[in-house]
Amino acid sequence: MAAPTKPIQILFVGAGAVGCFYASRLHSPAQNIHVSLVCRSNYTAIASSGVHLQTHSFGNYTFTPSAVYSSIADAASKAPEGGWDYIVVTTKALPDVTDDSEDIAPLVEAGGDGKSAIVLIQNGVGVEEPHRKRFPKNPIVSAVTIISAEQISQGTVRQNRWTRISCGAYSDGLGGKTSAALALCKRGDEAVNALVNLWKTVGDIKDAEAYSEVDLQIVRWHKICINASMNPSAVLAGGIGNSEMSLDPDLREHLKACMEEVFDAAPKILGKPFPEKLAKPELILKSTERNTGGRPSMLVDWESGRPMELEVILGNPVRIAKRHAVEMPRLQSLYALLKSAQRQREAKKKLAKL
Ligand SMILES: NC(=O)c1ccc[n+]([C@@H]2O[C@H](COP(=O)([O-])OP(=O)(O)OC[C@H]3O[C@@H](n4cnc5c(N)ncnc54)[C@H](OP(=O)(O)O)[C@@H]3O)[C@@H](O)[C@H]2O)c1
Repeated sequence: MAAPTKPIQILFVGAGAVGCFYASRLHSPAQNIHVSLVCRSNYTAIASSGVHLQTHSFGNYTFTPSAVYSSIADAASKAPEGGWDYIVVTTKALPDVTDDSEDIAPLVEAGGDGKSAIVLIQNGVGVEEPHRKRFPKNPIVSAVTIISAEQISQGTVRQNRWTRISCGAYSDGLGGKTSAALALCKRGDEAVNALVNLWKTVGDIKDAEAYSEVDLQIVRWHKICINASMNPSAVLAGGIGNSEMSLDPDLREHLKACMEEVFDAAPKILGKPFPEKLAKPELILKSTERNTGGRPSMLVDWESGRPMELEVILGNPVRIAKRHAVEMPRLQSLYALLKSAQRQREAKKKLAKL
């Protein structure tokens, strides 16, 4: 790729497993692409010696970002002239704990009116909406990743397998029903194509893919099929992994029924069927049987006492479906039970501190 004459400035907010991996696959100062990180608890480690990556796909290497910031406020106070071209959010999506759109506002404002593209690499559905409301002029890139990665110690990230990142614009979620949304969708598409091209050519991520707005939402809902069935069930089933669940006849029946609810709901919500090539519940369960050792992130978060991505994986799908007059009773039950369990745990923690 010929180096752009004007530097491309990219800022990742959330230097965890996903953020560090995908940031490291874009950074190329020699090609005038400058990637910086906003860190939090791992700031000291990354500021002093960069990010150490142990990857299945690209070997081991160190990523030294252009700049490392200790907080969003720190980054905003040192923004490059004209702000960032891309602000990539790779925090856990926890709208019940924090509003990411409010948090990143100083970074978006640094770019001036509607300039920076906001890129969301997060699980779940409905993650774009708060950003769309707060930043009506900025292009939004919605991204879904299939990867298995973890931060094994401060500043060291291990990618165990997979690299896929699917990107699509987000205007109104439906591909731009008004002329203003259409214009945003067009700018979003440009940002999607540019980013996917960088990940492919600079980062050698062969399965970085560009989608239309609605098709990307289909990818999101298809992933919900897996996440909304497996993740909460792993917690409520007493802490067992995906393979074990899929091999238990009663749990398998439950998982399949949860997936079928999403398979039935998503086409009614998006006005388009799931493409034939996307795996159906039985096939998903079949391949899950082989994924021994796979533990959903929600289970890992629950066991570590951290908040779970409950709202974007269960709450939003149930609410969005209801708005389209579609009920998902199994998902609603999982949501209600797990939300209550989380609330009880938080209450106990507070009491223990008194
Ligand atoms: N990991 C995977 O294999 C995988 C696969 C597919 C999808 N995903 C999705 O990708 C998203 C990111 O997941 P992840 O596994 O990368 O999570 P993670 O490892 O927990 O990373 C999130 C990072 O964001 C940081 N952060 C949170 N709020 C921040 C703030 N206000 N300012 C600065 N930093 C902040 C956290 O800092 P602290 O450490 O200080 O909390 C942490 O370093 C999630 O939606 C997840 O579901 C992950």
